[in-house]
Amino acid sequence: MITINDLHKLKERNEKITVLTAYDASFTKHLEQAGVEVILVGDSLGMVMQGHDSTLPVTVDEMVYHTKMVSRARENALLIADMPYHSYLDKAQALNNARRLMEAGADMVKFEGGGQFVSIAAHLIKHNIPVCGHLGLLPQSVKELGGYKVQGREQSAASIIIEDAQALTAVGVELIVLECIPQQLAKRITDEVDVMTIGIGAGVDCSGQVLVLYDLLGITPGKRPKFSKNFLAELDKNKSITAAIEAYVTAVKNLDFPDEEHSFN
Ligand code: KIV
Repeated sequence: MITINDLHKLKERNEKITVLTAYDASFTKHLEQAGVEVILVGDSLGMVMQGHDSTLPVTVDEMVYHTKMVSRARENALLIADMPYHSYLDKAQALNNARRLMEAGADMVKFEGGGQFVSIAAHLIKHNIPVCGHLGLLPQSVKELGGYKVQGREQSAASIIIEDAQALTAVGVELIVLECIPQQLAKRITDEVDVMTIGIGAGVDCSGQVLVLYDLLGITPGKRPKFSKNFLAELDKNKSITAAIEAYVTAVKNLDFPDEEHSFN
């Protein structure tokens, strides 16, 4: 099993850490086969699986359910589970919910924000629950932020993100997701703060990168964030989820499927 020490070793030898989201057992097996080092059961499942327009409606019960599915198929990767919206409002509630996610199979929990949440991180770490931070664009605060926008462009906002990264690191957080911030700011945090950074829309200088798997495979139709990339379509324009479904429809209509090979006598 990959541990936080293994991730430190990757950082020491300047090898990027790969992180992807997974929400079920089958995709987890694909991620394992591809050698992804960290699997995140992200609350992005609220949008890409459940069809909500934000991550806010996702519940702890749902995160536990998906973490169990991923955990059953996980072999090597470090498994991080997101703490959903309003599940870490105070220390006692955070500890109770983090324990549920750990019991479901997570190795670490992630939650969004610095400031008031630093003491929550410290409390969980004191109780032996490893914590991954998340700074920059915080999808759970999308209403307060006024939409999904780049964060930390102004000097004052950048300083707050740096201070939050330092404060989280000081209480023992070893991984921080940096979402949708200028590349220069992400580089500064990665260089100056003693923490491993995982970027999404934060440029190439972070210690590692994360993407939402459904974006990488082009599963969710419609508009995707600028920072995400459909790697399946990049392989070959004909290799996409939609192209496969279209091929099925055509084959059935043309009586090409099922053929002898896929039928019984
Ligand atoms: O929920 C999620 O998938 C995330 C990633 C975008 C980092 O938090």
